[in-house]
Amino acid sequence: MCGIFAYVGNDNQSVLKAVRGLKDLEYRGYDSWGVAVKTPQGFFIRKETGKISNIPETDFEKHEGTMSIGHTRWATHGGVSAYNAHPHFNRDKSLVVVHNGIIENHDALREEIAAVFGNDVFRSETDTEVIPLLIDICMERGLSFENAFTEVCKKLHGRFAFVALHKDEPYMLAARDGSPLVMGLAEGEYFIASDTPAFLDYTNEVYFFDNGEYAKISKDAVTFFNLLSGNHVEKKKEKILWEKESASKGGHPHFMLKEILDQRELIENTVRLGGPAVSKAAQTLEKADNIFFTAMGTAAHMGMVGEYLFSRIAKKSVQAVYAAEFDKVLPFINKQSLVCGISQSGETADLLEAFKTTKKKGGKIMSVINVRGSSAERESFLSVPVNAGPERAVASTKAATAQFTILTLLAYALIGKRMQGEKKLTNASHAIKKWLTQELLIHISHIVETIKHNEDLYVIGKSVNYPIALEAALKIKEVSYIHAEGFAAGELKHGTLALIEKGTPCVVLVSNDEYKQDVLNAAQELKARGATIIGISPEAHPVFDHTIVTPDLENETPMALMISSQILAYYLATLRGLDPDKPRNLAKSVTVK
Ligand code: M6R
Repeated sequence: MCGIFAYVGNDNQSVLKAVRGLKDLEYRGYDSWGVAVKTPQGFFIRKETGKISNIPETDFEKHEGTMSIGHTRWATHGGVSAYNAHPHFNRDKSLVVVHNGIIENHDALREEIAAVFGNDVFRSETDTEVIPLLIDICMERGLSFENAFTEVCKKLHGRFAFVALHKDEPYMLAARDGSPLVMGLAEGEYFIASDTPAFLDYTNEVYFFDNGEYAKISKDAVTFFNLLSGNHVEKKKEKILWEKESASKGGHPHFMLKEILDQRELIENTVRLGGPAVSKAAQTLEKADNIFFTAMGTAAHMGMVGEYLFSRIAKKSVQAVYAAEFDKVLPFINKQSLVCGISQSGETADLLEAFKTTKKKGGKIMSVINVRGSSAERESFLSVPVNAGPERAVASTKAATAQFTILTLLAYALIGKRMQGEKKLTNASHAIKKWLTQELLIHISHIVETIKHNEDLYVIGKSVNYPIALEAALKIKEVSYIHAEGFAAGELKHGTLALIEKGTPCVVLVSNDEYKQDVLNAAQELKARGATIIGISPEAHPVFDHTIVTPDLENETPMALMISSQILAYYLATLRGLDPDKPRNLAKSVTVK
């Protein structure tokens, strides 16, 4: 969680760049924010609770300086308050630090600091605060800022990315060990951020930090070092292909809606760009003895979809497991195992932990990712990009559909029918493009008007539509705060039916497949207890009170059902007066366990 932004260059209004950069990173955390700019009088620091997107740039114009750092926070250690917001500083505010990650041994480090400076030195409840104070101790013992910085890095246990700036030094220091950090390179300017959209306005040339590295950045030069050995590290420049435009709202009121509508072109794009990587991955999957899909949240639901697709299309057994529950399958991981991580951000902490344990047991790792250069991609011997473009809303929508697409292609490629898969998916893409219109949005918003005051909602589906039901419920609760539960249609009679009352909204996902009648029967049972049935299906059925008609895409119909449920969730949020892009308590990328 949390977004870091830092700038070193020739722009005297660097703080404005920091503010803009943070606005682009707000999806990573938005309960509080802070900036610091190095001015001739020392640091100007401002920290506040709330969203930086609400703050006008004019507030900062008079604070001039060519080095700035900033942070947008998702609280872990310590509540949401201005004093817990970053940057954190040392005793006399001569050095400032912004941090993303978790310092697990911060209690012990606090004791160490208290033994030197006393207890009154702490101004926050955060783990981060130990960093500037420890640097302070090292510098007081005679170390240079840089040596103090590396000494402190070696003391930290956990995962971190942080940037530090000292008022008397012409350079900035940035280190990574576990949390993402990338440097943007422009003429006479360096940008450091948790993610590239923060500086895509200025450059698309980057250096990705690897774990265990730090960089020393001044106006004219940047040098990378290994944190432990202190040896110089040669870096390779990489190019980011994403356009800034694709990371903007494109005239829509919310990123979530924009990203839902991006799905009109998405599947075809994913198919077109994914082919070669899919073929390579299929060869590896074919050889593997036991295959695991692992992920969290929406990506985990797509892993479950993959489990069904591999069974139905490729007749290949795969086990989907939440990355946070990976220990369950650990006894079965060996040199013949293939663990395939699925992740939009590629930075989900539980996933990276599952990768770590897999490696220890000799298993192979591949990943299905959206963000290039992400930790998941860097940890994998093979990765398949889903090419969904930047996803900014906290709720994952287009990335999920793109993951679904790649998993379908992989299943076809496994039986040597990748081209057939591509054809089916391209046809589905065209049908979705025709169907995903303004009229559809209006129709769904009218249905939502009738259920928006309900506080409980249930979603049922069978086979592939079971994980889609789980996903629909997750999307609804995440953005609308309605209690929503997804379950397998067959489970209905085994408990959940007891909760159905007159008017309880139940979303029923029906494909035109061999399970159709079973699911319609379950819908009848719901209706008999008074439920209001919202059917999402290629055709209307008498049991539905409201129908969202999708195209009939055969095996790909669940994609259209999922997109319909995303739209339903979007309107449930907005018609309840909520901001679907920034749901309470959540952040886009969960980089802590
Ligand atoms: O970046 P990842 O795909 O690894 O993220 C996994 C989950 O945190 C994510 O899908 C989360 O559940 C979404 N907010 C759901 O919309």
